Amino acid sequence: MINIALPKGRLGKKVYELFSKIGYPCAELEQDNRKLIFEDPAATVRYFLVKPSDVAIYVERGAADIGVVGKDVLEENRPDVFELMDMGFGACRMCICMPDGYKEDTDSVLRVATKYPNITKRYYKSINREIDIIKLNGSIELAPLLKLSDVIVDIVETGATLRENNMHPETAILSSSARLIVNKSAYRFKCGEIDDITDKLKPFIK
Ligand code: PRP
Repeated sequence: MINIALPKGRLGKKVYELFSKIGYPCAELEQDNRKLIFEDPAATVRYFLVKPSDVAIYVERGAADIGVVGKDVLEENRPDVFELMDMGFGACRMCICMPDGYKEDTDSVLRVATKYPNITKRYYKSINREIDIIKLNGSIELAPLLKLSDVIVDIVETGATLRENNMHPETAILSSSARLIVNKSAYRFKCGEIDDITDKLKPFIK
């Protein structure tokens, strides 16, 4: 039995489709219901539906053997897991973004709103810029528009959210995509099965 933490939403759907193709289908998961745990009748796989930012927590603590999570989340939380492969989808960039026409005042502390305080702190430390972090949980683009912050550090995928709010990306600080991660002790005990999964996934990865 392999336990897989699936991120809820679009990414999870894509991940499940892949796992289903390589021999881990689970008919119950394809039904429209509110369940969070799904097991196939032959008990070869159990899927958990978790919030994308929580996938690595379930895997690090062994509640799930493997999971798929964005590189951005891995860089932010640096969980103690093995990163086995780049899944080749979910590509995006983490960027410093600002309102169009914004001019930075380098003499004052820069106010930065973000969901990613650790990545943000590390980046600004590396360029010796003093900042005040404003940690938000979503709709980050609102912060500079309401003068809550000067700039934001956020994920840019298509750039549409920025454009529609008269903002633009200035500097990319990280490239992200979905990664397959595994619990360290699960990898010792189930390495045959887990290596078999990565081998079967490889032909589907672009
Ligand atoms: C993410 C991110 C940006 C948006 C970028 O937000 O924080 O707001 O997607 O995508 P785009 O470049 O394609 O417009 P998400 O949809 O996860 O919602 P959130 O505001 O709750 O973080």
